Amino acid sequence: MYARKYMKYASLFIWVTLTGVCAAADAQSQDAVLLYQRSLAATCANCHGTEGKGIEGGGMPLINLLTPKEMLTRLMAYKSGVQPGTIMPQLAKGYTDEQLQIIATVLGKK
Ligand code: HEC
Repeated sequence: MYARKYMKYASLFIWVTLTGVCAAADAQSQDAVLLYQRSLAATCANCHGTEGKGIEGGGMPLINLLTPKEMLTRLMAYKSGVQPGTIMPQLAKGYTDEQLQIIATVLGKK
């Protein structure tokens, strides 16, 4: 009788603990995804500035003025060779289409 009652509480305890652990793991994997996305976008910061906010008159295109769609179109054009450039064609070829899409989403005009 006593053991049964104990088991009921024990399983409740296990359920609550596992739910908590799963929620934490979920939050952690979301953080990992966010970190991955932001790291990809950060590879552009050397030339285009943090968050794509460059300096006006600094000689680099201000990419944060482009919408994500416009940016992706230009990146894909560099990648395919349709759009010539000094550095961007080589850079764009280094990323998968999916990565370029992520970068354009992170850096494009909100
Ligand atoms: C080494 C410097 C450098 C880095 C790093 C760099 N860019 Fe560029 N970017 C340029 C230059 C220079 C141009 C002008 C085109 C050319 O000469 O290749 C340009 C042009 C662009 C354009 C076209 C802008 C327009 O108005 O047409 C986009 C979009 C762009 N870059 C996005 C990116 C993204 C996204 C990244 C990161 C994956 C990145 N760039 C990394 C130097 C850089």
